[in-house]
Amino acid sequence: MRIIEVKDYKAMSKKAAETILEKVRTNPAIILGLATGNTPAGTYANLIEDHKTNQISYKQVTTFNLDEYIGLAGDNPNSYRYFMNDILFNHLDVEMSGTHIPRGDTKGIQEECQLYEQLIENYGGIDLQILGLGSNGHIGFNEPGTPFDSKTHIVNLTDSTRKANASFFDKQENVPFQAITMGIATIMRSKEILLLISGDKKKEAVDRLLHGDIDESFPASVLKRHPDVTIIADEAALAKAR
Ligand code: F6R
Repeated sequence: MRIIEVKDYKAMSKKAAETILEKVRTNPAIILGLATGNTPAGTYANLIEDHKTNQISYKQVTTFNLDEYIGLAGDNPNSYRYFMNDILFNHLDVEMSGTHIPRGDTKGIQEECQLYEQLIENYGGIDLQILGLGSNGHIGFNEPGTPFDSKTHIVNLTDSTRKANASFFDKQENVPFQAITMGIATIMRSKEILLLISGDKKKEAVDRLLHGDIDESFPASVLKRHPDVTIIADEAALAKAR
């Protein structure tokens, strides 16, 4: 894993956006894996800013998001589909039909998992996957204990993850209890991975990631087995690991 240390969230967002932009310029039909949450929001803002200034086109780009809450339709402001449209897709010239997020509101969730996995396969896999890191080491919604060989599946969210995500909802009670997520094996099949980490709240997780064992009790540790991972982390996130 290659580590790029930056000063703060702003610098992380700038560096991450530059990395993504370089890939899109070299491969305009790139398959991008995207994350939601606070961490990549600044990166997406930089991509939008660049799009306005430099007119880099996303028309041929295909995207696959990591996860979605079960029970929320795409027009629900708390769904990840809504979040992604609002924070990124609506501001680029990307074809909406080329943006993929698991359906959380279908009755056939099990079938949706298989379809999503198959769709990624059909596109030949993800070229560049953007990841954030949960304080408990989760990646996507793969909580501690998720098998490393897992594909897209249904998860029960832990209390800590529901609490961490509550800021996006009116009340914590409204945070769904389940989600659909790419599995760890799905993520690991990406050709390249960009892990973004910012802030003091992540310093224990970063320490364990860099110095701990590769173990299913800490999902992100699997990334050490991937041949092409770049971490962009800020000073606060790296404070304990140094
Ligand atoms: C989001 C996702 C999660 C987040 C993680 C960190 O699609 O898959 O794994 O990346 O929970 O969240 P933030 O960035 O809000 O700290």
